[in-house]
Amino acid sequence: MKKQEDREIRERIIEKGNLPRHIAIIMDGNGRWARRRGKERIAGHQAGIEAVRDTVRAAGELGIEVLTLYAFSSENWNRPKNEVFALMRLLRETLEKETEELKKNNVRLRTIGRLDRLPAFTLHALKKAIERTSDGTGLTLVLALNYGGRGELVDAVRQIVSDVEKRRYGVEAVDEGLISRCLYTSGLPDPDLLIRTSGEMRLSNFLLWQMAYTEIWVTDVLWPDFRREHLYQAIESYQSRERRFGRVME
Ligand code: IPE
Ligand code: IPE
Ligand code: MG
Repeated sequence: MKKQEDREIRERIIEKGNLPRHIAIIMDGNGRWARRRGKERIAGHQAGIEAVRDTVRAAGELGIEVLTLYAFSSENWNRPKNEVFALMRLLRETLEKETEELKKNNVRLRTIGRLDRLPAFTLHALKKAIERTSDGTGLTLVLALNYGGRGELVDAVRQIVSDVEKRRYGVEAVDEGLISRCLYTSGLPDPDLLIRTSGEMRLSNFLLWQMAYTEIWVTDVLWPDFRREHLYQAIESYQSRERRFGRVME
């Protein structure tokens, strides 16, 4: 029954057209989910994996081009050591378990963020998963890991200054297009829709440049409880909006 209902909503959404090409998600509320159950925070992160699985599958079935998941911010290193370590281990385990399924669903994995600070065991699993899904032609799944929007802009500025110094191009060549191409997201469309769970109304250093005109949808649902029906709700809200980009309609 649930499956049938899901299919109907999916068909309605696709029929309507005007799907977001790129959806970005701030997966928040794992800690609160765990606390409400008297469990350790890590149990919340663990439970969040099922939400990731269902969301990735649903986005792929809808034909969404890009799904970016904020999995670990550059500020998240400031959490207790054991939580950080548990998250890194969970990431490795999940990559190892899920790569086959990603491949089967024609998903291509990529990352944004400064990967060099990740522990070697996580990095190894990540590289393997990226390589094994590299011929996927369906959904591009982007994991934001050790990602910070300001750090990303710092990296872009450094690259541009160095290129100018080496006379690869002059200062007059620096424009919005060049900056976009120097970001970790180079080649990806900007997010059309941002989803944040657990009711928080902030960006938390996520995709600062890229989200200049992104539509925002916030839900009180905590990330471990997030399922495809919430993704459908967010998309239906997006489809009913008028994106003006500073213009006047009519
Ligand atoms: C999001 O859930 C997951 C990560 C940031 C890795 P939180 O761990 O931030 O959960 P809350 O916000 O404490 O509930
Ligand atoms: C944002 O969530 C980062 C991720 C979801 C990975 P946080 O829980 O770290 O954000 P703040 O601290 O509430 O702003
Ligand atoms: Mg949080």
